[in-house]
Amino acid sequence: MPSNAAKRVRQLTKLIREYDSAYFGEDRPKVSDSTYDALFRELESLEKAYPELLDPDSPTQHVDFIFDTRFQKRRHLKSMLSLTNAMDERELHEFDERIRKHTTPEYYTELKYDGLSINLTYQNGVLTGATTRGDGVMGEDITHSARTLSSIPLLIKNAPPLMEVRGEIVIPIEAFKKLNQEGANFANPRNAAAGSMRLLDASVTKTRPLEFFPYGLGGFEGTPPKSMVELHAFLKKCGFHLDTYRKLCHSIDEVQAFYETYKAKRPFLPFEIDGVVVKLNNLELAASLGSTARAPRSMLAYKFEAAVVTTVLEDILVQVGRTGVLTPVAALCPVKVGGVTVQRATLHNTEEIERKGIAIHDLVAIRRAGDVIPEVIGIIEQAPNRILFTMPATCPCCSTPVVKKSEKQHICPNSSCEEQVIMRITHFADQLQIDGLGEKTIRLLYAHKKLKSFPDIYKLTKKDCDLPGFAEKSISQLLSAIEKSRTQSLDRLIMALGIPLIGQTTAHTLAQHFHSIKDLLHAPKEALLAINGLGPESADSISSVPDKKNIIALAALFQHPVQQKTLAGLLFTLTGSLQSLTRDEARTRIESQGGAVSALSKKTHYLVIGADPGSKLDKAKSLKTPCLTEKEFLSLLDST
Ligand code: IVH
Repeated sequence: MPSNAAKRVRQLTKLIREYDSAYFGEDRPKVSDSTYDALFRELESLEKAYPELLDPDSPTQHVDFIFDTRFQKRRHLKSMLSLTNAMDERELHEFDERIRKHTTPEYYTELKYDGLSINLTYQNGVLTGATTRGDGVMGEDITHSARTLSSIPLLIKNAPPLMEVRGEIVIPIEAFKKLNQEGANFANPRNAAAGSMRLLDASVTKTRPLEFFPYGLGGFEGTPPKSMVELHAFLKKCGFHLDTYRKLCHSIDEVQAFYETYKAKRPFLPFEIDGVVVKLNNLELAASLGSTARAPRSMLAYKFEAAVVTTVLEDILVQVGRTGVLTPVAALCPVKVGGVTVQRATLHNTEEIERKGIAIHDLVAIRRAGDVIPEVIGIIEQAPNRILFTMPATCPCCSTPVVKKSEKQHICPNSSCEEQVIMRITHFADQLQIDGLGEKTIRLLYAHKKLKSFPDIYKLTKKDCDLPGFAEKSISQLLSAIEKSRTQSLDRLIMALGIPLIGQTTAHTLAQHFHSIKDLLHAPKEALLAINGLGPESADSISSVPDKKNIIALAALFQHPVQQKTLAGLLFTLTGSLQSLTRDEARTRIESQGGAVSALSKKTHYLVIGADPGSKLDKAKSLKTPCLTEKEFLSLLDST
């Protein structure tokens, strides 16, 4: 066991204890939820990897709660546990796989409200107690506050002799803002809800528009509901308010769709939510699966990514792209966003930097959503030693004087600029899916003069690759990946050439019309202009490709698969509702032509947009995924 693992476990334990005490004891979190989750998960995984480091007193085993002496302590009939978090689709599927070992599940999905978790005790239908979660075993008595909420019934008819109802106290976002305008100083709605419930003076609590949403039962004497669906009906009958944002899902894909829907609706909901909760519908089975020290095995908190965090902008670097465009890039003090450490983020161009008023050393807000490249969204605080950014007058790579094309665009006009060459080769290898030939390897081979152009890739030998940092196995894997790339499709090769203005959709169209790179590059302009969807600028761009002879020679090395006219290898994502065919029909047609339907990611080739598209459209824009209308999609299907 490395000694640094033990050291890190100690560090994490100390930090998490400190944050737990601020969060639970003072309603005043010290760090964002995403930072807390990341630290917690890091500790969990270290404890898993090195079980000898697992202290029974570790915060992963129980929450260190500091009780507020203003309140009486009360014991819950049954412990109040927490939930296991999933941060992405992969983790959702892992949960599903774990459950599938026991049953073919139906899942009940609900919103994960971000508020104060409480436990209500009813004896013969009378509300006799309300407690905060506390340390999970004991909570703080806040019965006086709970009695002021209209959404908490004081009396339930036909209730069992004894039951605990658990749920979340929330406050509308608007009410939270209003409270702060009136002089309160809550960090977020969750703290406003918790702070309002943990008051001694219930007459103040009564003035706050708090709402209780039940999500489960604790101790129960009698016959409890057998499923989440039955539980829902039972709680409703008891007089609780249940939102309509819940669903019985028959597959994990339906769960994913529920998640996507509420991720898109989240900004429009009156209350804060931080994810959805996935629960096994069958409660008897759920009970038989039991729980870990912290959380039931039958449930999962599928959390939305905390998209925004703050960090220090340490420097602004200038990156030279394959077309010579200079892009300012933020060098950030490393920060975790949604479980991933981010150190670089795009700043787009100088105009953007000015518009956002950012300077080096400032504290900035950054966003990362899904696969999208992290982005600096704005300034949080100016630094006293801030340095304003100006675009250099000469290329940072080859020192050629920079040309200002517009307020937004500065370029290095030297197409032999090393950075441009390296980035062109990187793009080429990426498009042709040459595994093992990433930017780092290309830089290494370039530095050793083994790789200076596209054709050089196909001349690489074992000896050329015999460089420090290259293992023998990875050399042979690289060489076979290069060999394999020669059978990539024509549209991928067109894309790989990096012809300005020619994106995936156009490359696909061009590959339909021309059978070789030679035909394409020799095509008269009129022939190009006759192609549906190809504008004069794109046609010009193709006609003026430099060094045609060498490109044609390179293309001669390729043996494209014969069946050009299929959707083979193309990944589609569908969003919104299609008018002329159902999603299942669309999927069948895509698959019958060799394509596939999957979740939206960097790898998606086309997003097909139906009526009322969801948030996928925004994501597609930031990923620059080509979008097809239903009509375009149908004609693509018909043309193949
Ligand atoms: S079920 C064993 N359902 O999330 C705990 N919890 O991160 C069972 N929460 O402590 C909880 N919405 O305070 C459940 N629909 C929901 C919820 C929900 C919010 C809170 C709850 C829990 C925390 C865990």
